[in-house]
Amino acid sequence: MIKNSLWKRILFGYIAIVLFMLAMSFYLIFRLNYLNKVTDSIMRADIPFVENGEKLLDSLLEQIRNEKKYIITNDNAFLDLFGQKRREFQERLKYLEESIANREKEPLINQIKELHKKYLSMVSKEIILVGKEEIIPPHTRYEDEKKKTLDQLTEAINKLILTTQTELIKKIGLFQEIGYKSAKISLVIILFAVLFGAFFAYFFTRSICAPVRILKDATERIAHGDLDYRIEVTSNDEIGTLGTAFNQMCNKLKEMDQMKTDFVSNVSHNLKTPLTVIREANDLLLEKIAGPVSDSQVKLLNITKEETLRLTMMINDLLDISRIEAGLMRYNFQYSDIQDIIRKSADEIRFLAESKHIHVQWINGAFIPKILLDRDKIAQVMDNLLSNAIKFTPSGGSITMTLTEVDSKNVPHFFAEQNRLNNVHSFVRVSISDTGIGIPVECHKMIFDKFQQVNNKGKGGMKGTGLGLSIAKHIVLDHGGDIWVENNDGKGSTFHFTLPFRYDYS
Ligand SMILES: Nc1ncnc2c1ncn2[C@@H]1O[C@H](COP(=O)(O)OP(=O)(O)OP(=O)(O)O)[C@@H](O)[C@H]1O
Ligand SMILES: [Mg+2]
Repeated sequence: MIKNSLWKRILFGYIAIVLFMLAMSFYLIFRLNYLNKVTDSIMRADIPFVENGEKLLDSLLEQIRNEKKYIITNDNAFLDLFGQKRREFQERLKYLEESIANREKEPLINQIKELHKKYLSMVSKEIILVGKEEIIPPHTRYEDEKKKTLDQLTEAINKLILTTQTELIKKIGLFQEIGYKSAKISLVIILFAVLFGAFFAYFFTRSICAPVRILKDATERIAHGDLDYRIEVTSNDEIGTLGTAFNQMCNKLKEMDQMKTDFVSNVSHNLKTPLTVIREANDLLLEKIAGPVSDSQVKLLNITKEETLRLTMMINDLLDISRIEAGLMRYNFQYSDIQDIIRKSADEIRFLAESKHIHVQWINGAFIPKILLDRDKIAQVMDNLLSNAIKFTPSGGSITMTLTEVDSKNVPHFFAEQNRLNNVHSFVRVSISDTGIGIPVECHKMIFDKFQQVNNKGKGGMKGTGLGLSIAKHIVLDHGGDIWVENNDGKGSTFHFTLPFRYDYS
């Protein structure tokens, strides 16, 4: 199959526009040439023809005048002038005869020739009689016939002039018509060229911009961790090739991500057993079962205990994420008291909060009967949200927990798919608000992706792996709820998560 490549499309577009322009230029040159010919024939033939016709008439009048003067005065000077004008007349007539382009004028020229000859023969007869004593004066002898001949002659010359003038007017009309037509056709061609150019520009730009936009969206989705997203390749041009290359890149990324997950999962799993052994050995040492331990050794052993605990928690988080990604996270759904879970989580964290002089309070906005959930997993969500709040709230701040029932219409959805929430009439919303450092709005979605931490390390003191919120998101979504964060008006942020409360899945 011939590749319908971009450059071919561009080439085709420009060739089409150039062809339009060439067609218009050739047409205009052809028309101008024709107009030139018409003008030329007017200037070279018609105008001189009319001028000569008029002069022909003048020289005839001169002949008549001088002939009459000679007959009356018998002065040879008039006869000479007559002869001069006769020759001039004949020369002009010859010129007209040679320059006629229209055969219709030939009989007229012949008629003028004949009539002039007739007139000349009458004049020559009269001239012979001049000076002789005649009863009838010479100029009266052929008067009537001469007058008739001259009238016919004048009429024929006038007709010749008029015919040529009519032709001239027709040519000027034609000239105007051609000019008008050419302008009209040129305008149509220009209009077509402009329209084609505009359509070409529009469709061409669209054919590039639309796939580029799709690529941009896809890149954004991949950048946000949706490694399963692929582009539908519909064209086989350069953009199509780019799309195919993009999909190949995504496959590779997915493969590498899978390899990384597998690696992390294997390493975490293999670390778990030695860590448990270290912890137990540490405990045995602390309990002085293996022998006496000095105070400074106890201090060191406590630090080791704390760090191994942290390491265990991290490994558990990593294993949780691996399980979630592999779709192996198991839930134990039971009707449980959410208030109880919140209370317990708050009690567990209270000691840590008090050590940082952070006030923890709980506003229970509604009495919520038992709902279907996995107690441990929801407690895990609560623990992470509360530990984050403490981590990122400076000393002297406060943490407020709220529990409310909300109508499903008033719940925004961030990560949950809309159709999963369709049958839910109302939700339980748990909100944990702090007076901490807050989170930039542009990071509100991103922090729920694994290993994503806003550049605030050190501010809160404690470090983490950036897995807590990602795990919480998956747990909440698997419960049919949603999770999101908002910035508080004053300072700090509020994390909300919802769980289906009254629903109808029938
Ligand atoms: N209450 C909060 N105030 C300010 N920033 C927060 C808050 N909660 C979370 N964050 C930001 O979101 C990031 C991700 O949180 P997450 O709980 O996933 O990871 P972590 O707490 O850093 O590590 P882990 O929970 O795995 O120990 C945090 O590193 C922090 O930058
Ligand atoms: Mg955390």
